[in-house]
Amino acid sequence: MSLSRLIIHHFRNLHAVDLELSSGFNFLVGENGSGKTSLLEAIFYLGHGRSFKSHISNRIIHYDHDQFTLFGKISEEKHDWSVGLKKTRQGDTVLKINGEDGKKISDLAHLLPMQVITPEGLTLLNGGPSYRRAFLDWGLFHQYSEFYHYWANLKRLLKQRNAALAQVRHYGELKVWDMELAKLAQVVSQMRGEYAEALRPEIEKTCQFFLPELEISVSFHQGWEKGADYSDILAQGFERDRGVGYTMIGPQKADFRFKANGLPVEDVLSRGQLKLLMCALRLAQGEHLVAQKQRQCLFLIDDFASELDPTKRALLAQRLRQSGSQVFVTAITEDQLQQMQWQEQHGDKLFTVQQGNISPLIK
Ligand SMILES: Nc1ncnc2c1ncn2[C@@H]1O[C@H](COP(=O)(O)OP(=O)(O)OP(=O)(O)O)[C@@H](O)[C@H]1O
Ligand SMILES: [Mg+2]
Repeated sequence: MSLSRLIIHHFRNLHAVDLELSSGFNFLVGENGSGKTSLLEAIFYLGHGRSFKSHISNRIIHYDHDQFTLFGKISEEKHDWSVGLKKTRQGDTVLKINGEDGKKISDLAHLLPMQVITPEGLTLLNGGPSYRRAFLDWGLFHQYSEFYHYWANLKRLLKQRNAALAQVRHYGELKVWDMELAKLAQVVSQMRGEYAEALRPEIEKTCQFFLPELEISVSFHQGWEKGADYSDILAQGFERDRGVGYTMIGPQKADFRFKANGLPVEDVLSRGQLKLLMCALRLAQGEHLVAQKQRQCLFLIDDFASELDPTKRALLAQRLRQSGSQVFVTAITEDQLQQMQWQEQHGDKLFTVQQGNISPLIK
């Protein structure tokens, strides 16, 4: 599966872009502020109905325009399909899939799995647990169609519980709801735990490839004491939760932690090593999806060269090639891409980005 054509209008500084893309590597080269990240952001928007940079869509629409539009043609082995998305300053969204109107953003969800690797993405390793929960949930979401339903209900029940904590006086008033919450928490945590376990060998193998000098270990924490019944935890914590006004313990605190030689990675790894580890995790997860569901995901890699020495750049390129995925890579200068070994014969494409205009150099 690959994005074979992309048309963009008035998305940040990208006024009118129409690209035929490679199903392998697409390199985007341009100066600061030329529009490289915006192109990756547009692809991400097409797949998620939201940005990875800003929650406010009015900031994404070109300053002089009232709406942006995106169109993508996706080619799969046996057929092509298309997605069109329009967002207006009034906040309206129009989504078409295969030309059919009236689609919801949630209809996009499973269509275009993507992995984003940006300098800001290091929060996966040095940010709070929410980034790592999102990482696990991404995999579950693409692998199990029922996961989203459990996850969304769990989120809703937790929100309702937090609101109810301000109103109830006795635990008896919450108990029935907590039983339902506990059941869902158990299901989501079990799925997360099993997925983390299934991913572990894939992660270890990929880390060995990128960071053979380190022994990386991973561990999943469900958010409450292992083996304990979550409904007991809720009952025991009622007075405390009522005092603070929210549920302190539970699946909303789950984490997936990484250690290098037994120490937390964020404390001991260099910036380059952190970046490689992030790439390893995202590649491992992408490959796991292929293995489980025969579904390829796209890789969006912003500022590919930063933090990596030439040898590591070549390693990353080699591993991405092996994965057979469609890859978008940005860089400021062409020479930063040298280690990525362009392969024109394999249909790689190089685009130059200048003040919002994108043109192919290698067709
Ligand atoms: N809503 C908008 N309308 C028009 N231009 C915008 C809008 N939002 C951002 N820009 C501009 O779009 C340009 C493209 O930014 P982008 O982040 O894509 O650049 P880049 O090529 O990734 O640069 P860098 O190498 O510095 O990361 C910037 O000049 C930015 O100021
Ligand atoms: Mg950028």
